[in-house]
Amino acid sequence: MLPYFPFEQDVFSMSLGVRALRPEETLIEVDAPRYADEVALKAALLTAGHAERFQGGPGTEELQWETLTVLLPAMARQSPEHFSLEVDGTRWCWHNRLLGTRTDFTPGDAASLPLAPLDWFGRQVQEDLLLLAGTHEGFPLVAGQLCFPSGWCLGDKLGRSLLAVHEPVPQFNAKLGPSTLKLMEGLKPGRPVTRCNWAISVTERLDLEPRTLPEWRHLFDGITPDNAGERCFLRLERQTLTRLPRTRAILFTIHTYVAPVASEVEAPGRRQRLARVLRTVPADTAAYKRITPVLAPLLGYLEAGEADAGWNG
Ligand code: HEM
Repeated sequence: MLPYFPFEQDVFSMSLGVRALRPEETLIEVDAPRYADEVALKAALLTAGHAERFQGGPGTEELQWETLTVLLPAMARQSPEHFSLEVDGTRWCWHNRLLGTRTDFTPGDAASLPLAPLDWFGRQVQEDLLLLAGTHEGFPLVAGQLCFPSGWCLGDKLGRSLLAVHEPVPQFNAKLGPSTLKLMEGLKPGRPVTRCNWAISVTERLDLEPRTLPEWRHLFDGITPDNAGERCFLRLERQTLTRLPRTRAILFTIHTYVAPVASEVEAPGRRQRLARVLRTVPADTAAYKRITPVLAPLLGYLEAGEADAGWNG
């Protein structure tokens, strides 16, 4: 079962859905059973198309280094079973037990790492990582490593403001634009926030750049109320936003989790909660989220189960 089930309300509502990260929660989540496969997939995708998936141009090096110097100590503290960090003067030694690797480097010295800092760091974690200039008007996206996007790509968004990035999202700028900017302005170092975004997918595949659609479009065919539980997947993005103290940049992390709908609605009440939200998604949002073609069979599946379990089930 996935770690989140973000269907608290009875109806769909477009909301910020942001809350402070709790002390026991971490910015980086290690999903140990999937870690090796997902990190290997990232490496393969970056080899296949590096410039599409990593951008860290001149002027972003400081932001990239600050990401490492903030997150590596936190990861070593929070997951000592997986990671450790030794600091000896300016030299840092990072051990990743999940990968069985050790990396020695000097923060700030580009020549001490084999890759750009954010590109190297992104290969230590399952998250996608995006950096927004925190002191520029509109918070433009200036660097990122993005391997598991849900229908977008780095090249289309780099350099654009946060509102421009969300331009294709129906009703986003009208309903959430001002509050999102207010949130970004108010982010304080050491006080990260988190939110969870959800989608329904017809594939477990993590890398869903728009140009991959022809490879999996056929999976929309033949979904029925009988098979929708296995053929439709709940795709969750656990996101965090952190203000970096020195550069004031904003780090946006996205950890993508995918599982068949059937495995996520076994617990009592969950079929009903998901069905209620799906029934109330506005038509433009359903089309944007690619729910429209699977909505009827998926509701049929959820409702059949509700009848079996009883409405209080
Ligand atoms: C509080 C902050 C944020 C909120 C409330 C928010 C909300 C959303 C929502 C509701 C969607 C539509 C996704 C869906 O319904 O499946 C979306 C899409 C997206 N968001 Fe955000 N987001 C936030 C921050 C960010 C940040 C910091 C970035 C960094 C670049 C970002 C990048 C994107 C992108 C690229 C998309 C897809 C747009 C497309 O389809 O072209 N978001 N966001």
